[in-house]
Amino acid sequence: MIAIALAYALEQTAAPRGRTLWLYGEPLPDYAPADVYHPRKNFAEALQKKGHRVVSDVAEIGRDYDAVFVTCPQQHEEVEGLLALALDRSRGFVMAVAPNDAGGTRLRGMLEAFGVPVESVGKSHCRVAWTGAAPEADRQKVEAAQLHLALRPLVLGGREWWTVPGIFGWDQLDPGSRLLMDHLPDDISGRVADFGCGFGYLSARLARDHQGIRQIDAFDIDQRAVTCCARNNGEKVNAVWDDLRSRKVEAIYNTVVMNPPFHSGKGTDLGLGQLFIQKAWESLRPRGRLFLVANQHLAYEKVVPGLTLVKLGGAYKILTTRAEG
Ligand SMILES: C[S@@+](CC[C@H](N)C(=O)[O-])C[C@H]1O[C@@H](n2cnc3c(N)ncnc32)[C@H](O)[C@@H]1O
Repeated sequence: MIAIALAYALEQTAAPRGRTLWLYGEPLPDYAPADVYHPRKNFAEALQKKGHRVVSDVAEIGRDYDAVFVTCPQQHEEVEGLLALALDRSRGFVMAVAPNDAGGTRLRGMLEAFGVPVESVGKSHCRVAWTGAAPEADRQKVEAAQLHLALRPLVLGGREWWTVPGIFGWDQLDPGSRLLMDHLPDDISGRVADFGCGFGYLSARLARDHQGIRQIDAFDIDQRAVTCCARNNGEKVNAVWDDLRSRKVEAIYNTVVMNPPFHSGKGTDLGLGQLFIQKAWESLRPRGRLFLVANQHLAYEKVVPGLTLVKLGGAYKILTTRAEG
């Protein structure tokens, strides 16, 4: 959809080729190889394999591009930040695309708000908006909006957390995760894993409340989440940037905790949470335990042996199981 919409828009306007930067999206074949920003490991690796030069940290993005293309993610502040970054790094041309039901309808207005002339077309349920006048953008607005892409400290639940728009639940403590932490047994110790750590709330609570824990390995697919998790935790927490779906796991953990993801793009992806549970199960030492929180409607109970209910609370359930040994 996105590629069709972009290709269609590029038939309507003469976009420069030269050096191009792609924020999130995959460069169209005519532009390959190109410079790409993507913070999620699976996309970053796939794009690298196709020959693109990929960075996963906004601080490493270059400047003076002939054209910058933005495939808009869903989070509003992040999109504003990416549009500002695109205007800052382009010598003229910026083009952005979003599905109509995920920000597309407001895309033109968001670009116009930076004070540049904008054209736009709709195609394949997406909106594409562009300008050829990036240097005319309001500098103050461009500088201010780019701050949305920087990690920032935010006070949540009585302490400061490093976080950034675009990562999971960036400006709140997830109620399900809080429920999970409030219902763990006291005797968690040894080597622990936090699967899908986000900015590190579960790891931080574990490290604070369970003195017998020796090490916590905290994994996330999003580079920004991993950086935040490391900053939000001390030496006990080893934050790892990885895609757990493809990670080869070993049976080394006394305990695995998680609030597994269940979305891919916009839709519910039950299989993703189920795969997390399977991987966690394979990661447990003999007699090791798994604790997870999930929305009540998600059918996880039969994924691995012995998963039983510990607690229902609000829309959530806490499940646990123990490996044989
Ligand atoms: C529901 S959030 C939980 C975040 C955090 N643990 C909390 O409780 O607030 C799930 C996390 O899993 C991460 N994630 C999604 N798919 C992943 C994958 N394939 N491998 C590793 N992490 C993944 C997401 O980036 C997100 O941070």
